[in-house]
Amino acid sequence: MIGKVLVAYGTTNGSTAQVAETIGEVLHKDGLTVDVLPARSVASVSGYDAVVVGGALYAGRWHKDARRFLRRHRRVLAERPLWLFSSGPLDASASERDIPPVPGVQRAMTRLDAREHTTFGGCLEEGAKGAVARMILRSGKGGDFRDFTAIQEWAAHVAAELAGE
Ligand SMILES: Cc1cc2nc3c(=O)[nH]c(=O)nc-3n(C[C@H](O)[C@H](O)[C@H](O)COP(=O)(O)O)c2cc1C
Repeated sequence: MIGKVLVAYGTTNGSTAQVAETIGEVLHKDGLTVDVLPARSVASVSGYDAVVVGGALYAGRWHKDARRFLRRHRRVLAERPLWLFSSGPLDASASERDIPPVPGVQRAMTRLDAREHTTFGGCLEEGAKGAVARMILRSGKGGDFRDFTAIQEWAAHVAAELAGE
């Protein structure tokens, strides 16, 4: 019986935190006890029965907080049902097809025997940190490509799997 779920995330500009919060709301609505926390603030995962970890994509890699989280907690994570998500593409691609995890995340999935990975569209808006972000915004390639219906559906699917544990 799964009771308590952690949704941990790595974000720079906050949009992945909102994805994680949305997932947390659905899991909570489906009867689970949920903590949604920045990955770097989690001291221990041993009090959780299942874990969802999400990372924003930056230059072809998962956010460093998400990467460190998997490394730091690998022993306990390997013994828990684990789901991963990425948020990144600044176009409709994530809504149109399944985007595989970046290589580092793929390796972690194998190592930790994660159940599943999914990629959601990303978001980049005025005020984002960094010169590259400003350049992308100046060239008109920013925007919000998060599909909250798809995010809710994925979370409901995770909740359904957990209900069967
Ligand atoms: C410098 C920079 C590099 C990025 N690199 C990637 C990338 O390699 N792949 C991708 O899908 N999205 C990439 N993105 C888009 C971000 O992943 C997207 O904006 C994401 O939603 C940011 O999440 P956050 O708001 O939680 O930090 C990049 C954005 C910036 C600003």
